[in-house]
Order: sequence, then C-alpha cells, then structure tokens
Amino acid sequence: MLAVRAFDALLRERGVPYHAERPLAPYTTMKVGGPAEFLVEPRTPEDLAAVFSAARECDLPVRFLGSGANLLVGDAGTRGAVIYLRHFGRRDGLHVGAGYSLPRLCKETAAEGLTGLEVLAGIPATVGGAVRMNAGGKHGEIASSVLYVDVMTPAGDLRRMSKEQVGFRYRRTSLDGAIVIAAGFDLRPGEGARARYDAVMDEKRKAQPLGTHNAGCMFKNPPGGHAGRMIDQCGLKGERVGGAHVSRKHANFIVNDGGATASDVLALVERIRSRIPALELEVEVW
Ligand code: FAD
Ligand code: EPU
Repeated sequence: MLAVRAFDALLRERGVPYHAERPLAPYTTMKVGGPAEFLVEPRTPEDLAAVFSAARECDLPVRFLGSGANLLVGDAGTRGAVIYLRHFGRRDGLHVGAGYSLPRLCKETAAEGLTGLEVLAGIPATVGGAVRMNAGGKHGEIASSVLYVDVMTPAGDLRRMSKEQVGFRYRRTSLDGAIVIAAGFDLRPGEGARARYDAVMDEKRKAQPLGTHNAGCMFKNPPGGHAGRMIDQCGLKGERVGGAHVSRKHANFIVNDGGATASDVLALVERIRSRIPALELEVEVW
C-alpha cells in the first residue's frame, strides 16, 4: 500500500499521465481480465524514464501493453505499472513508433509499392508488440523487414539495437526488459505487394475466427508440428468452460463468447494441456 501511494505521488510530481485501477479487458482482444493498478501513458522518453525510475524506487513491477492481441490478463488484474505507448505512435517514413498500428503500416507500405510487410496481413498488433513477439506466420516474420530497433532499458538509457542484437527467433526476442519505442524497416520497392496482402488476408479469414474475441494462437507450434492440428485430432474443437470455447474453425484459438472470465480460459488451457502436455503457451498470462 505504501509503495502504491509513493508511486502515485511520484507520477504526479513528475507529471506523467496515468489512470489508477484501469480495467484492462477493453485493451485486449480476448476482452477478459481485471484492472491494472496503474495504466501509465508516457508522452515522451523523459516521461518513460521517469516511470521506470519511480517503479524501481517503489519496487513495483512494470509491464508493457501494445494492442493486447497476445495477452491473457488474469481476473485479479495486475500489480504495479502497465506502460501503454499510445503517444509513441508516429510514422516518419520507415522509422515507425512502437504504438503505431501494424495492420495500418502493412497496408500503407503495400500501397506505397514497398514489399516485405504484406506477409503480416491480418496480424493485430502495435509495432512494439510485433517486434517483441517477432510476429509472423507461414509467409514470413517481421524480423526479415527490421533494420534496427530503438529501445529504452529499465535503467532509462536509450539504445539503438541492430537486428542481430534483438535476437529474433520463433515468437521470441532477447530484449531483456527493455521497451521498444520505435523500429526502422528495410523494405524494397517491388510489384504486387497489395495483391499478396489481399491473398494472405483471405487465407487468414478462411482459416481463423477473425472478428471474435480471441488472442490468436494460444500455443506455440512444437518443433515439426502444428498445435492446432494436434488439438483438433484430440477432438477438442467446441470444448467449453464457462464462456470460453475452443474455436471450431481453428483449434489453436480460444474464443470468448462475451461472458468468459480469465479463469474460464485458463481452465480450458489446462484441459488441452492435460491431453497434450508438450504444448507451450504463446499467449502471455498476466
Ligand atoms: P501485446 O499483446 O500487447 O503484448 C505482447 C507482448 O509484447 C507482451 O509481452 C508485451 O509486454 C510485449 N510488448 C508490447 N509492446 C511492447 C513494447 N513496446 N516493447 C516491448 N515489449 C512490448 N501473431 C503472430 O505472430 N502471427 C499471426 O498470424 C497472428 N495472428 C493473430 C490473429 C488474431 C485474430 C489475434 C487476436 C492475434 C494474432 N496473433 C498473431 C497474436 C498477436 O497479434 C501478436 O503476438 C502481436 O505481435 C501482438 O502485438 P501487440 O501489440 O498486441 O502486443
Ligand atoms: N489444422 C487442423 N485443425 C485446426 C487447425 C489447423 O487440422 O483446427 C491443420 C491445418 O489444416 C494445416 C495445419 O494444421 O494443415 C497448420 O494450420 P495453419 O495453416 O492454420 O497454421 P498454424 O501452424 O496453425 C501458424 C501460426 C499462426 C499464423 C498461421 C498462418 C503459430 C502457433 N501459429 O498457424 O499465427 O497465422 O500459421 O501463417 O505459429 C499466432 O501466432 O497467434 C498465429 C495465429
């Protein structure tokens, strides 16, 4: 309680905009979960550094929120600070702020005759969240188009990381607690990006329950396999706990019908794992 009061006072003193006890469900695509103790919206790198230092002084945890498309927030919500970079959403050519919408960037660059990002059509994300997750699929990953990533470390230092330093792997990076504030892209002029964008989007629409409340694929694909196919082969499509069910369209998606709690989703995750223990969560649980 003391830490919470002290953090609150430090944010006020340093003039950083924030909301206390802000429900997080509306900030996620799954639409479940409780409030953030603090949802902080820094406007500048100085604000951001102030949040990191205040959290350190008060010994409170810090988390980063993009568009919440790969998150499952627990029903009790989160302690400490959730940093939301909505004020870091500017695009200047191919230097793009972390809060910028990835779908918008993919569409815009394709329309500008640049190729590279059209393979990421249909992935809801901010640029920061997509870099952190190395978002992608069978047509490619964001790593292939990234030139550099600008981050702030938890110590408040600004750094430009090369693609090699970011350590992109399958749905993973090595950012070590640093927050992405912008990324530079290396896209090539070329034909047909818009047509490929439409084709990838069409494929996703056919295969995935887009337009429902979900967090994308719940589990990573194990080496040499497909989690969706494995869950399907266990006969778990349509399996339900409360307001959450395994999508009939794609078995690696859990859909919130509207009334689900995070506990419903987690119980369904455990039911799937009791059948296929090798599956590892892709979605991050808060
Ligand atoms: P969030 O979900 O908000 O956060 C995800 C992680 O990134 C968290 O650890 C968070 O702390 C961290 N993070 C967020 N912002 C930053 C930042 N600025 N700096 C550092 N860390 C940060 N994913 C794919 O890879 N391929 C797909 O084809 C795909 N399809 C999807 C389809 C649907 C319908 C949905 C709902 C999701 C899908 N996903 C897919 C999952 C999701 O879109 C990606 O994981 C995406 O990268 C999440 O970005 P976000 O901004 O929403 O991040
Ligand atoms: N399949 C089934 N039943 C299902 C779902 C899939 O049998 O219910 C089969 C398909 O028929 C296909 C195989 O499994 O033969 C693979 O399916 P799909 O092509 O849909 O690809 P995926 O491996 O399930 C991956 C990514 C997706 C990405 C797609 C398309 C992971 C965990 N998933 O899915 O990413 O959109 O490729 O590029 O890597 C995400 O990460 O959140 C995500 C949605």
